[in-house]
Amino acid sequence: MNKHLDDEQATKALAQALYASFPGDVRGWTVLLQGELGAGKSTFARAFINAAGHRGTVPSPTYTLVEPYELASGKIYHIDLYRVSDSEELRYLGWNEFDDGLRLVEWPDRAPDLAEDADLLIELNYAGDSRTVDIVGVSERGAALILKIN
Ligand SMILES: Nc1ncnc2c1ncn2[C@@H]1O[C@H](COP(=O)(O)OP(=O)(O)OP(=O)(O)O)[C@@H](O)[C@H]1O
Ligand SMILES: [Mg+2]
Repeated sequence: MNKHLDDEQATKALAQALYASFPGDVRGWTVLLQGELGAGKSTFARAFINAAGHRGTVPSPTYTLVEPYELASGKIYHIDLYRVSDSEELRYLGWNEFDDGLRLVEWPDRAPDLAEDADLLIELNYAGDSRTVDIVGVSERGAALILKIN
């Protein structure tokens, strides 16, 4: 799926539509958010976490690396790998234990191995002042989920 995102609101609306297409229990899913500095990854992640019912701020996990949210549809782990240098460091962080929730990952390219666990790859790109997005279903259920986004 490819889409033009005119402004920040469009990025948020897509994140909300993606959340709405998930099953009622989001545990065990892995969503990768790829894109250059400032492409809109955190904007997308915040809107997704808010759509899942979180009220209040969604701090950037750049320093803490992981921010967990306990929500009605299950846990969401907001993960930022900007400061992680390889897959071993990611495992040390507890990556495997986060499978009791939905893993929403910024800078997934820092640890290429984790693509094996992915359901969806969301790639944000600059298009002048706006953005484009590509959503790719990595797993079979991820591909099926994309068809439900509207
Ligand atoms: N579709 C869009 N069109 C134009 N601007 C957008 C769009 N989506 C988000 N933005 C803006 O892009 C800026 C950067 O967004 P954001 O912080 O989410 O990026 P990021 O990918 O998380 O960056 P970083 O890698 O530095 O953490 C914000 O000012 C946001 O409002
Ligand atoms: Mg960010």
